[in-house]
This record gives sequence, C-alpha cells and structure tokens, in this order.
Amino acid sequence: MNIAVIGTGYVGTTTSVALAMNGHTVFAIDHDHEKVEKLNRSILPFYEDGMEEVLKNLVFKRKLSFTNNLNDCIDKCSILFITVGTPSLPDGLADLSFVEEVARKIGRFMNEYKVIVIKSTVPVGTGAKIKKMIENELNKRKLGITFDLISNPEFLREGKALHDALFPERIVIGCETERAQQSMKELYKDINTQVLFTTVIDAEMIKYASNAFLATKISFMNELSRFCEKIGADVTAVAKGIGMDSRIGPQFLQAGIGYGGSCFPKDVSALLALASKENTPLQIVQAASKINETQAEWFMEKVKKALRNLSEKRIAILGLTFKPQTDDIREAPSLKIIDYLIQNKAFITAYDPKGTEHVKKIYPDLCYTSTPLEAIKGADAVIIVTEWKEIMDIDWKNAINIVSSPFVFDGRNALDASTMKEFGYHYVGVGRQD
Ligand code: UGA
Repeated sequence: MNIAVIGTGYVGTTTSVALAMNGHTVFAIDHDHEKVEKLNRSILPFYEDGMEEVLKNLVFKRKLSFTNNLNDCIDKCSILFITVGTPSLPDGLADLSFVEEVARKIGRFMNEYKVIVIKSTVPVGTGAKIKKMIENELNKRKLGITFDLISNPEFLREGKALHDALFPERIVIGCETERAQQSMKELYKDINTQVLFTTVIDAEMIKYASNAFLATKISFMNELSRFCEKIGADVTAVAKGIGMDSRIGPQFLQAGIGYGGSCFPKDVSALLALASKENTPLQIVQAASKINETQAEWFMEKVKKALRNLSEKRIAILGLTFKPQTDDIREAPSLKIIDYLIQNKAFITAYDPKGTEHVKKIYPDLCYTSTPLEAIKGADAVIIVTEWKEIMDIDWKNAINIVSSPFVFDGRNALDASTMKEFGYHYVGVGRQD
C-alpha cells in the first residue's frame, strides 16, 4: 500500500520506518525543508538506537522517502496518517493548530476516497472535530468525495520506539465503517498482535487513560516511598511483593524522582484540563500529577539534610535525560534538580551519554564532563538522576577513592544498596532506609 505520514517527529518517523519495514511504500511529509533533506540522508532529528541504519536501508531501497510536497502524496496514497505535534498550551490543553492545518489541506486537495488516520495524541473529541473540518472543506468543492476518519493512537516508548512499533502489545483502531476497518486490517496484516476496534472517541480516551494510569502507578509508588522511609520499610521490596500479584503487575512500580518526558506530563495535564473544562475533575490523576511535581524537590530536601548545607559543595549529577536510551530532556527531573542546586549555590558537574548538548543550551555555565568518572572526581556528593548503563557500570568499589565525600544519592534506586554500603558509601535511595 502507498502510505503518507504527515509530520516527521518521533512518532511520525518511527511509524514511517515501521510501515516501510512491513512492506508498504511510505512517503513521509514535513514542512521543514532542512529536516526533510537530512532525513533523506538518513540523519534522524533525535537519538534512537539502531534506527538510522534501518532508515538508511529503507531510503536506499526507495521504500521510504521524505518530502515537502503534501499535495503530491495525498494523490498517491490511500491512507494518510496525521502525526504532527500537539504541544501544551499555557492552560494545559493541547495545541491542535498543526493537526487542524493538515486536516484543512487534506480536505482541499484530496480528489478521491481516503482513509485519514490521526496518530498524534489529541484530546478526546478531536476526531469528530477534525472530521467536520474536512467535510466542510469538501463541501465547498461540491465533488461528492468521501473519506473515513480513524483514531489509531501510538503506544511506543522512546528508546524502544522501533521495537514497540514493530511488535506492539496491542493495536487500537477507532473506526466507524466496515470499509475503513478493512483498510486498517490490510495495513497491519503483517503485525502479529491483538487488534481492538472501537469508536473514534473510545480510541482517543484509551490513549490518555493508558498514560494517566501508568503515571498514576508511578506516583502511587513515589508517594508510598515517602511513607516507607518514615515507617522503616523498603519501597523496592514492597514493589516486588505487590508486583507478583498479576492483577497489579511488576511494571511501572519503580519509585524515583518522578516521571518526565514529552508524554506523561503533557498528556496528564491535557486530560486534567479537559476534565475540568467538562466539570468532571479527575481527582486521582490530579493527585498523581501533584506528587510528580514535588517528588524531585522532596528528594533534594533529603540531599540537603544529609549534607547539612549545599552552598559551595561540589555535586556530581549523573544522567540528564528523562530516562536512559534517549537524548530527550523534556520535563526531565534533572532540570528541577539543577535549579534546586543552583538556588542553593552548589557547584554542579554533570555527565550524560546523550543529553548534554540539549542541557547546555539551558544551562551553559555548568561543568559538563565526557565520562562519569570525571564528573564524580572530587565531588562532595553524587546524585544519580538517570539509570544509564554507563553510570551503573562505574567501578564503584574504586571510585570511592576519587570522590571527596562518599555520599551517593540514588534517585532511581538503581544500585544495590547493601553493596554500596559495603564499599563504604553513605548511600541514600528513595523510600529505603539509609
Ligand atoms: C510513555 C509510555 O510508556 C508509552 O506507552 C507512550 O506511547 C508514550 O509515553 C507516549 O505517549 O508517546 P515514554 O515517555 O517514552 O513512553 O517513557 P516511559 O518509559 O513510559 O517512562 C516515562 C517516565 O516514567 C520516565 O521518566 C521514567 O523514568 C519514569 N518511570 C517509569 C518511573 O519513574 N518509574 C517506573 O517504574 C517507570
């Protein structure tokens, strides 16, 4: 099938690559000329392990190409994916202007029946609104052209994007006609997974409910971690014990310094904003969001208390990205931690395998190192912010000889507490006993 994917961000590019790997001919469209030119040379605008090589191969075989020419692709393709960005507005609602602009253009330029698929994360109810917009454009042209509008949310994780797009745990398709259902079945016929057909509005809700539920799971454990510390329990043991119950499940129970990234914080805010607008505040999700906002600060208060004073202390921050295997620093807890340390007049040395360049643009005056050992050399305390392998693999036994004081604050509970204590560190985790 000939497929158009409009918008070459994280989701758009990964979707394009995955569809091309499944044998379709994919035309990925973006209005940014420089981005298109680079993508045609297989240069990704983000870091995703292994994806550039796959991309190179698909571009070479002409299974995937990038272009600025939307009209041409609308003509050539039977299925049009909308994967443009939906950034947050100041009130928390999603900015739909890019999605709307693409929809209007499709309505103006399509000349025959098309299946139009929204994959961007859009507020519940957007599908119906976009359908109307396209109908209005078509009505102006009085050609009697029809289309189907589908919601096909994306559940991929950064760092595992290609794996998740090729081997998804489920595909959700919100679609209201038999004809569109057949097209989508044909599109995904080579993906062996469970496919759930729903209405458009249910598919939109499934996307937000999934992210809000996962965010709530994390915040539940983060709140519990504060209580565990007080009462003498260890949150990692508690997570293990409750996770053995298949009704709870072991994933997303890791307490830490809070969730970040471009999805959970943005989607949770958008859901909350929409729910309040509809006069149905979602109180559990509100609490999850609030706990997340304060978790990094709560952790830093522990750091400050243990060191007594942060002023002029040399603090090594290990990890800047919101999680390992990505260069993304959007809403990363590291940014809150840096702000806290700057306010408290500490000297910061920071290390990250992929995220340094992005953080440098916000904080040009910090000291950045290219290895974790350089960062911890002479440090009065080490804070583990992201559990990169490079950081876990530090020779901690010998590293104690190069730090100035043996304080390690593990914001991800990623290291083994008893081993670190045996090595002689004053090790402080989240929701555990010091
Ligand atoms: C998330 C979802 O997991 C995807 O299913 C979804 O498609 C995506 O958002 C999206 O909406 O586009 P992602 O943001 O890439 O994916 O990252 P996750 O792996 O979910 O991690 C999010 C944050 O939660 C990270 O900061 C991570 O460190 C934190 N986290 C995760 C915890 O603090 N504890 C955990 O147990 C798990």
